[in-house]
Amino acid sequence: MPNDVFTVLYLGDIIGKPGRLAAAAFIKKSRADFKIVNGENLAGGLGITPSLAMEMLSCGVDAISTGNHVWRKKEIVPYLMAEQRVIRPLNYPPGTPGFGYTLVEKNGKSLYLVCLEGRTFMGTVECPFRATEEFLQERKDGVPTIVDFHAEATSEKIALGWFLDGRVSVVLGTHTHVQTADERVLPKGTGYITDIGMTGATDSVIGMEKGPVLARFLTQMPHKYEVAKGDIEIQGVYITIDSQTGMCRDIQRIREKVE
Ligand SMILES: [Fe+2]
Ligand SMILES: [Fe+2]
Repeated sequence: MPNDVFTVLYLGDIIGKPGRLAAAAFIKKSRADFKIVNGENLAGGLGITPSLAMEMLSCGVDAISTGNHVWRKKEIVPYLMAEQRVIRPLNYPPGTPGFGYTLVEKNGKSLYLVCLEGRTFMGTVECPFRATEEFLQERKDGVPTIVDFHAEATSEKIALGWFLDGRVSVVLGTHTHVQTADERVLPKGTGYITDIGMTGATDSVIGMEKGPVLARFLTQMPHKYEVAKGDIEIQGVYITIDSQTGMCRDIQRIREKVE
């Protein structure tokens, strides 16, 4: 890889143990300069624990972003305050434990990873647009920045892409667990994709066993969900960033079956 660019492997929400095993094997083989994952579904499909975060970090993951499910396992809260490589969404009220962004430094290269949570069809978090604006106003060090926008609505994600075009390296979406085919480099140089997908079972409902999900839709009664097994798909993106400008040279979707 020439010196004027660096590469980032970014995997979508990793679902439970089958997702973790597949992601770990894929990450160990990858020659990307930085390896980042969304880990909000690492623990049985809902939430993240310190030991599972450490498991991913020990496989070569440089930073872990999360989303709305980050709070599911209580033991993660003190860990989020101590481990800066594992972040929660930035746009929570002041005083929320943990960090909303992290500076990843490796082999003389560095980048910021920012996590944001959407507001459309989601919880009542603070404005993701203003939170990013504040972040950018505070840090004018020219370090390339990747924004993981963990959000439900495609329109909210596309709007944030335009809002940040030319100001960050990449805006990538997570949370829906369904990969979109709209990856591109926006006119001012920001890489964009509405959703990078998940790393989990293909024959599932967004990573969970089909039966209980169907039962819930059919009866409207609560059912216990379980992580789906079977063939796993690795989904994410491979990003090439210009070291000088911090802008995106290329963004490629990853969608690979693991038997
Ligand atoms: Fe998720
Ligand atoms: Fe989510």
